[in-house]
Amino acid sequence: MIEQKKRDNGLEYIEVRNAQAQAKIALQGAHLFHYQRENEDPLIWLSDASFFETGKAIRGGIPICWPWFGKHPSPKMPQHGFARTALWELLEVEEASEDETELTLQLHHLPQHFKLWPHRFELRLHITIGRSLTLALTTTNCDEQSFTITSALHSYFAVSDIQTISIEGLENTPYLDTVTNRREMQTGRVRITQEVDRIYQQVQSPLTLHDQKRTVTIRSEGSASVVVWNPWIDKCARMADMHDGAYRTMVCIETANALDDARTLAPGAEHTLTAVIA
Ligand code: BG6
Repeated sequence: MIEQKKRDNGLEYIEVRNAQAQAKIALQGAHLFHYQRENEDPLIWLSDASFFETGKAIRGGIPICWPWFGKHPSPKMPQHGFARTALWELLEVEEASEDETELTLQLHHLPQHFKLWPHRFELRLHITIGRSLTLALTTTNCDEQSFTITSALHSYFAVSDIQTISIEGLENTPYLDTVTNRREMQTGRVRITQEVDRIYQQVQSPLTLHDQKRTVTIRSEGSASVVVWNPWIDKCARMADMHDGAYRTMVCIETANALDDARTLAPGAEHTLTAVIA
């Protein structure tokens, strides 16, 4: 079942329910902000202090960072690009079976995007909602010049207690620690006991998130970089759209094309960044 709904402030979203799971996706940003499998707690974290305002990214869910990941060299430009706050259009819905629903959302270059990023593009997000959750973000270069993108499927995972989780699959992987700005090498599983903001490079899929109450696998395609982020106590307390202490119940494991994993697309070329969460 699919329903188009509106929050009280007019923010439009799509609610999907099938035999395996339910999900909610805002048209602003093609931002999935809820995913829950039948008889389980939500797998994707959403801040209960999120604003849900027009022009502001939702805190939690899976924001789409595109066409740049992180800070832009110019401080006037929005962090993580403009796709997460742009209004997308719902292109197709397919209720393939009672267990799986597929949606495609699309964003085209518009005059207002040109001053942020002067390229013609088409961006499509294909979402499959079922026992697992798949997001496939396809960028097509519709321009006459090549362009380069960095991006991320900025997935926020709900965890029972940040201090007891571990992430497997990044052992012996180099990373840039963006808190200290130092290059490091991961030894053992990733455990989080302080602010963590890292871009792992040369990553081999899959990763496994071990939580006391479940194990989540994240497989990626078209990606060789992963961002792991938790703001910890002080940064969380400074963030207006996260309650103090909310850092304990979330971790971001972001399927990315960041740093040397940026992708350059020739005119007419396309690239797909995929995350399969199960
Ligand atoms: C992560 C970045 O991807 O997103 C962090 O690595 C950043 O540096 C975080 O703080 C949240 O970003 P924002 O723009 O949603 O507050």
